[in-house]
Amino acid sequence: MSGIVVFGAGGRAGRAVTAEARARGFVVTAVVRDPARYPDLDAEGVTVVAGDVTDPGLVAGVVGGHAGAVHAVSPFSGPEQGFDTLDPEFFVKAADALLDGLASAGVDRLVAVGLAANLLGADGRPVMDDPLAFPPGIRPFALAHTAGLHRLRERGDGPVDWVMLTPPGFLDPGGARTGRYRVGGERLPDDGRAPWLSYADLAVAVVDEIERPVRHRTRVSVFNYREETVE
Ligand SMILES: NC(=O)c1ccc[n+]([C@@H]2O[C@H](COP(=O)([O-])OP(=O)(O)OC[C@H]3O[C@@H](n4cnc5c(N)ncnc54)[C@H](OP(=O)(O)O)[C@@H]3O)[C@@H](O)[C@H]2O)c1
Repeated sequence: MSGIVVFGAGGRAGRAVTAEARARGFVVTAVVRDPARYPDLDAEGVTVVAGDVTDPGLVAGVVGGHAGAVHAVSPFSGPEQGFDTLDPEFFVKAADALLDGLASAGVDRLVAVGLAANLLGADGRPVMDDPLAFPPGIRPFALAHTAGLHRLRERGDGPVDWVMLTPPGFLDPGGARTGRYRVGGERLPDDGRAPWLSYADLAVAVVDEIERPVRHRTRVSVFNYREETVE
């Protein structure tokens, strides 16, 4: 079976996607900035490569011959990190590098992980515009992420068939893999149940969209209900 390139393979989503892809028999090229920090990634069927997702030449050099690429990179891993070093253009640069790099290598599938902050709330506003629903302090990151989504949409008629899968606000690193997920639109349901997703089921959705692409050049939400998945 052909391979998948995972950018951000050392992170929570990237590790889950790498594990899901390996379990299905894909070989994985795991891209991290400093392989020495991730000796545990170097397992059977996984090749670890050093690289920055904002470098189109690096992307082109790494992705050739693969079935598709996954963008699971985040320059921000939690509020304690602050935003002093956050480049507001980070996700735009990543989108450009991925679209250009994949196109020049002849790889036409990109699955990107989104951010719940730019889904729409019950009032139709982006969640990040509601200070009661989204911490204003994290807004710079949400704006940067959203700019990356806009860039994918602006370039939506190019040769790379992309999809962004956006989890709900509660994305659980310790949540179990159920193998199931719902796919929604720009607005999460507001029916009193709590949208929730484990990283493991996010990875199921990501690898599904590489293995059998269903959504094309669009952003969708991906979620479960916590009530259904937690005993
Ligand atoms: N509820 C939600 O909507 C929600 C919650 C969490 C995450 N997310 C999204 O899910 C995606 C993945 O997040 P995560 O939780 O897996 O983040 P994470 O655990 O912080 O991992 C992110 C990874 O990105 C890598 N990285 C950072 N800058 C890079 C660069 N320039 N080039 C290549 N790799 C780089 C980091 O590795 P190195 O530092 O070693 O390079 C890190 O391992 C992000 O888009 C994030 O915003 C959404």
